[in-house]
Amino acid sequence: MERTFLAIKPDGVQRGLVGEIIRRFETKGFTLVGLKFQKVSRELAEQHYGVHRERPFFPSLVEFITSGPVVAMVWEGDGVIASARKIIGATNPLNSEPGTIRGDFGINVGRNLIHGSDAPETAQTEIALWFKDEELVAWQPHLTPWLH
Ligand code: TYD
Repeated sequence: MERTFLAIKPDGVQRGLVGEIIRRFETKGFTLVGLKFQKVSRELAEQHYGVHRERPFFPSLVEFITSGPVVAMVWEGDGVIASARKIIGATNPLNSEPGTIRGDFGINVGRNLIHGSDAPETAQTEIALWFKDEELVAWQPHLTPWLH
């Protein structure tokens, strides 16, 4: 079963959007298999966004992600990686469609509320970076047969 890594960024937490954001993935029918609330170390932030190390926005991105607690999650389901990216919306909230999380709640690319893995390889890397194996819970909700 496919899994993806999602993280509600410090702005999502500060604005009280944790429940609203989680609701969208729950009601879509995906299954939560990992969840933790934590402050992000500079080391973890730099590793997580390592691909952007040379970009001009990298220092402010790391500053932002380490500025307050985040909700780190792993979600499971058929096609969850691409579907979560659609639910999240385009990187710049001004270009995100209404109905997406960033489209509904954001304005600024540096305050875009949530991270979602962009491909199977990055999902695998990010899940391993943020979660230990024993922190992930394999389970089947009873609802599943009604959804699939
Ligand atoms: P990226 O991986 O391109 O976007 P996404 O989060 O949609 O996968 O960029 C990572 C984060 O870097 C992005 O969520 C917000 C920040 N960022 C900026 O602050 N300015 C920028 O111009 C870009 C492209 C990203």
